[in-house]
Amino acid sequence: MAERSGTAQKRHVWITGASTGIGEALARKMAREGWTVTVSARSQDKLDALAEKQPGIVPHALDVTDLEAVRAGVKAIEEKTGPIDLAVLNAGTHEKDSMETFKAEEVRRIMELNYMGVVNCVDAVLPGMLERKSGHLALVASIAGWRGLPTAAAYGASKAAVIALAESLKFDGDRLGIKVQVVNPGFVKTPLTDLNEFKMPFLMEVEDAVEAFYNGLREDAFEITFPWKFAFIMRRFQRMPYSLFFRLISKGTGK
Ligand SMILES: NC(=O)c1ccc[n+]([C@@H]2O[C@H](COP(=O)([O-])OP(=O)(O)OC[C@H]3O[C@@H](n4cnc5c(N)ncnc54)[C@H](OP(=O)(O)O)[C@@H]3O)[C@@H](O)[C@H]2O)c1
Repeated sequence: MAERSGTAQKRHVWITGASTGIGEALARKMAREGWTVTVSARSQDKLDALAEKQPGIVPHALDVTDLEAVRAGVKAIEEKTGPIDLAVLNAGTHEKDSMETFKAEEVRRIMELNYMGVVNCVDAVLPGMLERKSGHLALVASIAGWRGLPTAAAYGASKAAVIALAESLKFDGDRLGIKVQVVNPGFVKTPLTDLNEFKMPFLMEVEDAVEAFYNGLREDAFEITFPWKFAFIMRRFQRMPYSLFFRLISKGTGK
């Protein structure tokens, strides 16, 4: 399997949003696979508990919405554990919204975490990667970023923004030796999706999801998406003309 610089050997991965859910499970998986894994999130206690349970995990709490804290955090992480070879920028959240309760402040809050949180981390890791002429960025978006879906105006926009960011960075990354990937999960069982009241199609266990995630990181394909059946169906919706798309999604979701 061909691998780009920075991922050829298992070295140092930094995973944000690693106190629960996909990030936590990926951290455990990658530590088991022999990576040194620095984990970040706001909850110091959860990160410490994770590091205690699994050798190879190093906790570093930070808030990804705070650019100065992220820059200082990356500096401290690299001083302590060495250069970050791979940054998995996964911290994010979901909140449903509606036209009746639409508020710019709510949209801004989601964008600050799901989009600017990723931007802040990219800003902080890039100088080192550019200097070393190697590195790997994996930006976590969502299949929900492929098209606007009901009750997901803010969430979908934040994830579409992450996808566009990753696409654009890839052009320079290819020239500068930095591998860029976007990760678009469907529904994965985590504390976040446990809050959903609707039946989630093709809901995936988190351990299966991180298996697909990890395999994707070792491939050259730009996009990592899972579960494949849901991705296959949603890809059909992504390419549909508006008239059919709105009719079918509205019928399927009852919205
Ligand atoms: N689960 C799914 O079905 C699904 C589908 C598509 C995309 N995704 C995306 O996958 C990512 C992980 O989702 P998940 O389901 O694993 O959610 P989760 O279990 O709620 O995990 C979210 C993580 O983000 C961290 N976080 C939240 N705010 C933060 C902040 N300001 N600074 C640093 N860390 C912060 C949380 O820890 P603290 O609270 O301790 O900070 C937690 O570790 C998200 O970006 C989500 O949008 C998930």
